[in-house]
Amino acid sequence: MWSRSYLVAISVAGAISFFVMACTQSVDKEPARKKKKEADRGTIVALPATVKHPDDNPYSAEKAELGRLLFYDPVLSGEKDVSCATCHHPDFGYAESIELSIGVGGKGLGMQRSFVSQGKIPFTKRNSQSILNTGFNGIDVNGDYDPANAPMFWDLRAKSLEDQSLHPIRQLEEMRGLNIREDKVIDGVLHRLNAIPEYRERFKKSFDNNGVINEEDLAKAMACFERTLVANNSRFDQYMRGDETKLSAGEKEGMELFLNAGCARCHSGPMLSDFKVHVIAAPDADKRTDVDSGFQGGFAFRTPSLRNLRFTAPYMHSGKIAKLDDVLSFYEDLRGTSLRTRHVQPDALDTLAKMVRVEFRDISRIVEFLNTLNDPDYDRKIPASVPSGLPVGGYIARKL
Ligand code: HEC
Ligand code: HEC
Repeated sequence: MWSRSYLVAISVAGAISFFVMACTQSVDKEPARKKKKEADRGTIVALPATVKHPDDNPYSAEKAELGRLLFYDPVLSGEKDVSCATCHHPDFGYAESIELSIGVGGKGLGMQRSFVSQGKIPFTKRNSQSILNTGFNGIDVNGDYDPANAPMFWDLRAKSLEDQSLHPIRQLEEMRGLNIREDKVIDGVLHRLNAIPEYRERFKKSFDNNGVINEEDLAKAMACFERTLVANNSRFDQYMRGDETKLSAGEKEGMELFLNAGCARCHSGPMLSDFKVHVIAAPDADKRTDVDSGFQGGFAFRTPSLRNLRFTAPYMHSGKIAKLDDVLSFYEDLRGTSLRTRHVQPDALDTLAKMVRVEFRDISRIVEFLNTLNDPDYDRKIPASVPSGLPVGGYIARKL
């Protein structure tokens, strides 16, 4: 008897294993092919619903609100005339509407902003980046990232929002000005903050400190606020999360054309950026006397996010391309005529940039797709006043 049931067992096991093998084969082959295709073109996905905060700087509502006040308070600048919001204003997607920003010695906001310092202070070196979604900087296709080690700036020279936030205070043309030395400015700012009772009180509540405001907590408060500036519910995100109706047929076609053109080989993942630097020969800035040679002097710049482009024109590190159609024409031209900067020779172009294929007739469809990446529903709250009593945002009022 046992031999019969033994045989049955074998044949059942055999049938099962045959069945399993057949299934795994047919199931596996498909995704393998699909994956390869996606890997070749790059993959784009929705943003997660929430931002990760680093372990040593957890979120709290008091801390984020303190960060907001600091962000709008010109007390952080040498001449008390510039705040972070001067160049990262909610009206412009927390970026800036001019090619290169004007920090110290300027007045007005956006297109109205101009120098009053008569040539003593230069423009900023590069086009201002948006702060929206910078809490996600470094995120990859699988949603993995380390907020304590997140890539920052066009040339990756800072790691994490905490590290980044003190750079503009030290930078001559952004916030420091000519009257305080670089190595003294942070102490000077801390001295001012410690003299304002509301700040002392708010820092004490946020950090449980010994009553003295320090550099580390200043950076942490600003970074905590920046991580709340999220715009992760664009129509693209809703579509990617499963709502097919959110993109029109034309926009879906634009997305296909974007992928087929090879854009997502660099503009990949949920931020549509690989957060790496590439030489793509974008036009140079022309409002400064020095040459901007980018990452380690090699004329490579970090792939920017393609989110919220509607609010953040002009484009590129130099701000030299005004419209999205013109950015697309720039990519179309990469293959033929001479490059738009004399600092890059054609053979120095990034391989992935050489592989880009844009046809003139596809440009408007691709731009249509890019416009599905806008999410206008982000936090635009500007405080009514700041603890220093200075003008909110710096000298940015339209009439001064
Ligand atoms: C005068 C204009 C100006 C001011 C003021 C300013 N910034 Fe910026 N910001 C810029 C420019 C320009 C860049 C890009 C610089 C670069 O990449 O070299 C930038 C980049 C950044 C980035 C990097 C974003 C990314 O994706 O890499 C962050 C974050 C940021 N600024 C936050 C701040 C904070 C916080 C303050 C206030 C403490 C501030 N900025 C003040 C002009 C300004
Ligand atoms: C080789 C990698 C790479 C490829 C491929 C690529 N880009 Fe870019 N893209 C970049 C980099 C790097 C920049 C910034 C260059 C600079 O400022 O010097 C950029 C800038 C941009 C900007 C300006 C964004 C801003 O905020 O200033 C847009 C829009 C853009 N790319 C769209 C596209 C589209 C559409 C395609 C496909 C036709 C594409 N890119 C292909 C790397 C790439």
